[in-house]
Amino acid sequence: MKDFYELAKNRYSCRAYSQKQPEQEKIDYILQCAKVAPTARNFQPQKIFVVKSQENLEKLAAVCPCTYKAPVVFVIACDNSIAAAHLGDDGNFGETDCAIICTHMTLAAKEVGLDSCIVGWFVDKDVKEALNIPQNYTVYDILPVGYAANGAAPSPRHSDCKDLSETVEVI
Ligand SMILES: Cc1cc2nc3c(=O)[nH]c(=O)nc-3n(C[C@H](O)[C@H](O)[C@H](O)COP(=O)(O)O)c2cc1C
Repeated sequence: MKDFYELAKNRYSCRAYSQKQPEQEKIDYILQCAKVAPTARNFQPQKIFVVKSQENLEKLAAVCPCTYKAPVVFVIACDNSIAAAHLGDDGNFGETDCAIICTHMTLAAKEVGLDSCIVGWFVDKDVKEALNIPQNYTVYDILPVGYAANGAAPSPRHSDCKDLSETVEVI
């Protein structure tokens, strides 16, 4: 039972990466862990763009300030023509689906010795334009992944977790 807690606790937002390319089997493992994530009604509306070419990494960095020169960046998007609709409004569960997928991926990366950083600071339209992603997608999460650079360390905020008494209420 402790293994998952240790993994979850040790994951941190890494903001400096070595240029060593992560092994393909590790990338594949992260993608396999994404594949088994739950999605609303199991519609699996996600598309994960694996940004690896120098050209596309640069195009992405120009519109997203937080890719941190990672050698691989996953762009996690939802195909809105597939996502399960919310009942009673025009929205869909794509954002939730992508957040869960991204969580699987960040933890899977940690398990295989890679670090990552969940990034939400970008404009969907700009990322789609930069990477030629079709309009039927919404990009919800960006996940730079790689080996941490020498000296990379968690920010002080990493261990600044509210006490459970503040965030949990038994009712
Ligand atoms: C939805 C979401 C969006 C985030 N966006 C960014 C971002 O744009 N840039 C960044 O450097 N970190 C981003 N983070 C990382 C958070 O700042 C970080 O998770 C938080 O400070 C706790 O630190 P830790 O991840 O090291 O434990 C984001 C995290 C989440 C969950």
